[in-house]
Amino acid sequence: MKKLLVLCAFAATFLIYSCGGGEQKPAAESQVGNTSQSSDAGKENPVYDPERGSGRFTNVEVADKLDPAMVTTGEKVYNLKCSGCHKLNDEKLVGPGWKDVTKRHKPEWIMNFATNTDEMIDKDPKVQVQLELCLVRMPNQNINDEAARGIYEYMRKNDGVK
Ligand code: HEC
Repeated sequence: MKKLLVLCAFAATFLIYSCGGGEQKPAAESQVGNTSQSSDAGKENPVYDPERGSGRFTNVEVADKLDPAMVTTGEKVYNLKCSGCHKLNDEKLVGPGWKDVTKRHKPEWIMNFATNTDEMIDKDPKVQVQLELCLVRMPNQNINDEAARGIYEYMRKNDGVK
């Protein structure tokens, strides 16, 4: 009986510490000190590209000048689906402020994150750092490709592109 109690206490502590994206931790920890790649690495967990993220955007063409129509689309989406958690300056609300976000990430990364949020939260090292600071998992906002591209253009405008 005592043994069972000890076990329960241990399990509870583990649950508390693993709260917040913790499901990924055991896998990451088990790789520490493991220099050889596991044989099924390419199958279950294909190599993650931290520059582009994972999702349907692999190559986004961006002109030097802003596209005003895209900016308008992006602004609408922002007001409706993002402004509740993201400010346009560098202050954190629920999520990080968007100032300089286009300097921190490539367009592919941002658009993949906006459309394939769950998978990227699980895989991206930078997002995992943010998750630990914000303590909230960004919910998938179900936006389409056009909205995602508009958002990126709106972010460029916010970062001073003319
Ligand atoms: C319920 C709150 C919430 C909403 C709504 C939300 N986000 Fe987020 N967002 C977050 C949090 C929290 C993070 C930090 C990562 C994490 O903890 O999941 C984040 C991170 C991000 C990042 C990475 C920022 C950086 O500096 O690395 C981008 C880009 C982003 N969100 C885009 C969007 C877009 C686009 C929308 C609207 C379509 C949106 N978010 C709506 C909470 C939210």
